[in-house]
Amino acid sequence: METTVLIMCFFNSLFIAICYCFNNPVHAIESPKYTVIQSESDFEIRLYNESTWISASSSQTNYSFEHSTETGFHRLYQYIHGANLNSSKLAITAPILTKIPSSTSYGVNYIVRMYVSAHFQGKPPQPNPELKLQLEKWKTQCIAVRKFSGYAKDDNINKEIESLVSSLNKHLDGTSTIIQDTSSYTIAQYNASFRNTERVNEVWIKVSGFRTDC
Ligand SMILES: *[C@@H]1O[C@H](CO)[C@@H](O)[C@H](O)[C@H]1NC(C)=O
Ligand SMILES: *[C@@H]1O[C@H](CO)[C@@H](O)[C@H](O)[C@H]1NC(C)=O
Ligand SMILES: *[C@@H]1O[C@H](CO)[C@@H](O)[C@H](O)[C@H]1NC(C)=O
Ligand SMILES: *[C@@H]1O[C@H](CO)[C@@H](O)[C@H](O)[C@H]1NC(C)=O
Repeated sequence: METTVLIMCFFNSLFIAICYCFNNPVHAIESPKYTVIQSESDFEIRLYNESTWISASSSQTNYSFEHSTETGFHRLYQYIHGANLNSSKLAITAPILTKIPSSTSYGVNYIVRMYVSAHFQGKPPQPNPELKLQLEKWKTQCIAVRKFSGYAKDDNINKEIESLVSSLNKHLDGTSTIIQDTSSYTIAQYNASFRNTERVNEVWIKVSGFRTDC
């Protein structure tokens, strides 16, 4: 069983690090903390606390979602495995976020992001410069989330994004809530690529106007 898993990881380099963690059921994968502040049948609104993220912007605008996620993840993977000025090892976290560039604005890249593990929140080590990564400090924010299963692919993510936008427009019509990211959306992936059942992915869209803090 373990051999099978390792071989499959080898062929699915994307979430190779998660494979190792998943081989060891004792260690749960860390994720950023949130509170659900509104729950509907097909989406929910989450309040995420302020947090630190590490991000990789793709250098080519023409790459696909899948390709950009894979290459961005590889750079983030090097960072958490010691390619930082302190040679620190950071725990892997989930989800892996991929921000989709807007189809209308030229030159905006895919951005792949990983939450910095709790131990390094607020004091993350600086990435090695050649990786061209950015540390980001997020303020407290509200995010509308739609879950979907299976693999997130270039040919199915747009349908999921459109479904969330349409649900939000229906539910939030006449309220003070505003969709903030009108031009770009984020896909969140939680599972290693060798997991072919019970996969969890999400579309994230930043919203505001729910409460005083987001
Ligand atoms: C939010 O983050 C701050 C510091 O970053 C922390 O002090 C606070 O306890 C967190 N709140 C929750 C609800 O996790
Ligand atoms: C860029 O994308 C377009 C449309 O997807 C494709 O036809 C073209 O071959 C791509 N160019 C390069 C250099 O990859
Ligand atoms: C990284 O190293 C610098 C210089 O030695 C030190 O000041 C800093 O606290 C270290 N940061 C972390 C996250 O360990
Ligand atoms: C995929 O990730 C989700 C969220 O972390 C988790 O609940 C689920 O069990 C994972 N699926 C598998 C097959 O490991």
